[in-house]
Amino acid sequence: MAKDIVCSGIRPTGNLHLGNYFGALRNFVRMQDEYDCFFFVADYHSLTTHPTPGSIYADARTILVQYLAAGIDPERATVYLQSDLPETIELYLFLNMNAYLGELERVTSFKDKVRQNPGNVNAGLLTYPTLMAADILIHKATRVPVGKDQQQHLEMTRTFAQRFNNMYHSEVFPLPQAVGFGNDLVKIPALNGSGKMGKSEGEASTIFLTDEPSVVRKKIMKAKSDSGPIEPNQRKPEEIENLFTLMRAVSSPDTVAYFDDLYNRCQIRYGDMKKQLAEDMVAFIEPLRQRIIEIGADEASLRRIIDRGCEKAHASAATTLAEVRQAIGYRH
Ligand code: TYM
Repeated sequence: MAKDIVCSGIRPTGNLHLGNYFGALRNFVRMQDEYDCFFFVADYHSLTTHPTPGSIYADARTILVQYLAAGIDPERATVYLQSDLPETIELYLFLNMNAYLGELERVTSFKDKVRQNPGNVNAGLLTYPTLMAADILIHKATRVPVGKDQQQHLEMTRTFAQRFNNMYHSEVFPLPQAVGFGNDLVKIPALNGSGKMGKSEGEASTIFLTDEPSVVRKKIMKAKSDSGPIEPNQRKPEEIENLFTLMRAVSSPDTVAYFDDLYNRCQIRYGDMKKQLAEDMVAFIEPLRQRIIEIGADEASLRRIIDRGCEKAHASAATTLAEVRQAIGYRH
């Protein structure tokens, strides 16, 4: 039986943060041994919110370096830039013909973006989910490692794939699934007590893979907490649950159990918990940060990796596109 195909990407909006890492990147690394993987930098998608980027290649390169530093091996996985694969855009066009205004307007991320920036509601933003579906379907991927916030986009990808198959009486596309770590899709919280970690919650609430130890310590010590539990085994409020979520990501199970027990006995001191969390976070990030510096300095290798990835991605995309054109009935 053919190997399952995996495909995912991250937008170049600056350095990667712990949300990107635990929601997506660590799964990219884990999956590359088992599946046929395509990992790209979503540098078309970034135009939906930043239409006049000052340095789009440099931003994409930043993400690529961080992919490699996290352990993606370009010998095993295909690593490329979305903008090096214009076949995606042809598929995007075909999918857009059968994507309806009503369903696109109901997408949560679209509604959020409209609220945040009512002056830039462009068609690219509206059709963000069809471009994402095209990214995935161009390789006929079946598994898509993403964080929880992408779940709705994956549901739409399945809708578009199924609709294409039905409309053109074909079975070109499989229906892809979002995959997380274990059974659940992950959401890493912001340090300000609510929301998900990411640029929109602000730099102080987000820990980047490039943050120096002193910066990590400062951000963690400022993370939102409260005055402590007053009853044994009390339910944790959101900001405290968030600290535990972060601790579960980077600390040992013993450490988590230790602080959980203190919490349940109303003896927790958040200053101590944060100090421990900060040290575990630094120990986790520091080797990654060092590798990012090393890999980023080797321009010649990066160019080779991008060229090779582009070639491999083209081969896969061309095969799918030929089937798509044939299913619709174009000369081919
Ligand atoms: P983006 O660039 O916003 O985020 C990249 C990945 O990181 C995950 N993520 C998180 N996971 C858990 N907790 C968080 N706080 C957190 N913040 C970010 C996201 O879920 C995502 O997996 N639309 C995508 C990029 C994309 C894509 C695709 C993904 C374009 N085409 C095709 C998969 C397949 C996005 O904007 O992700």
